[in-house]
Amino acid sequence: MCRAHLLEPAAAELLATELRQIVGDGNVLSDPALTASFGHDLTGRFNGRPALVVSPGDTAEVAAVVQACAAAQAPLVPQGGHSGMVGGGTPRDGEVVLSLRRLTAIEPVDRVAAQVTVGAGVTLEAFQRFLRPLDLEFLVDHGGRSAATLGGMAATNAGGSQAMRHGMMRDQVAGVEAVLADGSVLSRLRGLAKDNTGYDLTGLLVGSEGTLGVITRLRLRVAPLRPKRVTILAGVESLDGALAVLELLQSRVPSVQAVDFFEQAGLRRVREHLQLPAPFEREYPTYLVIECAGRTDPADELDGLLAVVADAVAADDPEGRRGLWRYREALNETVTSLGIPHKLDVSVPVASLPRFAREVRDVIAAVDSEAELIFYGHLGDGNAHVNVVGPAPDDLRIDEAVLELVASLDGSISAEHGVGLAKTQWLSLTRSAPEIRAMREIKAALDPRGVLNPGRLMP
Ligand code: MLT
Ligand code: ZN
Repeated sequence: MCRAHLLEPAAAELLATELRQIVGDGNVLSDPALTASFGHDLTGRFNGRPALVVSPGDTAEVAAVVQACAAAQAPLVPQGGHSGMVGGGTPRDGEVVLSLRRLTAIEPVDRVAAQVTVGAGVTLEAFQRFLRPLDLEFLVDHGGRSAATLGGMAATNAGGSQAMRHGMMRDQVAGVEAVLADGSVLSRLRGLAKDNTGYDLTGLLVGSEGTLGVITRLRLRVAPLRPKRVTILAGVESLDGALAVLELLQSRVPSVQAVDFFEQAGLRRVREHLQLPAPFEREYPTYLVIECAGRTDPADELDGLLAVVADAVAADDPEGRRGLWRYREALNETVTSLGIPHKLDVSVPVASLPRFAREVRDVIAAVDSEAELIFYGHLGDGNAHVNVVGPAPDDLRIDEAVLELVASLDGSISAEHGVGLAKTQWLSLTRSAPEIRAMREIKAALDPRGVLNPGRLMP
């Protein structure tokens, strides 16, 4: 069977003509000056020159585009807000970008089911803005909200800071509509709470990183808005101390929904980058951002907390809370401002996080004693973001050493960013041979010609 392959210029021109007939002239880009921004990711690590960028306006157009690309054996890279970190939505030279950003419809809220059907191209921030006046909220949130699309977040099973309480995207997606590699449309948007009729295709498509189907619409769960919120920035003496705080929060504070951590070195870099004031009079080795949300004021639940942290500042108004989160959420852009980073999003059992933090330093220093480590993440999930600046982007010794350490601690080489192009070669560190074989067989069954996001996820 013929497999998808990179397009020669003449073939790309023919395909562009066909795609223009499907989506309209203005929605197919071939001029490199116009396609360039679809080819460079935020980290600067992944770059490609797409042959074409096509932006369909509805599911039928997506299906026709997929069929045309499959017939031309053109590799297709589904792309949402293009804010991923592992090259999953970034094209390589000659691939076709299928941008879902025009799919921005939001349907009326189904109040009884507490669900909403949305287009894949709606950004997380636009969805939050839509829900707030309706006294509703979406329970997945993260710092990339202005760019990240809900379709991309479902395709990558995004996590974020509140995952410790509400789970990841898979827990909030009640159903999907997706275009499969042959152009057929799989629709599971009824949002039935109970439907035991075979394989969980929604669960399979969520987190499949565009390799099994192109998600076009989603049925999302929503929750009553919890209007009372408190955010606390706390200084602690160590990551072990941070775990003691986490334990206390988990056992005594039902309203806690996020406990993120970062370190002194990261805080210094963020403050330099954004000219922010110091949060406390002295510096601490470890900082926590804790967030509680409830229908009633969570402040009472937090009484015992101040006794176990060295220093803390709290805010309960939106601006003050945003200001405290800024120290944590700006770490990503700060790291990128320092150079092209090695971004390793990993997880280990929560109790092993302090040990991982100690050993990862030694592992990195053994490979490159000059490398700068900026270490932060989501404490409640054992999810660490290991950011290393200094080593050349194509020098993978640090990636390998860190991921081997993760595997030795029974962790995962990707916690919430996905595998993309960045980590395929290490998948077998934390997924077994039978698991990888099963994944390959699923891919071969659903996309025998390898049209959808080839080379991503699977080694
Ligand atoms: C975060 O937690 O800030 C995001 O996952 C992105 C990052 O790795 O910095
Ligand atoms: Zn994160």
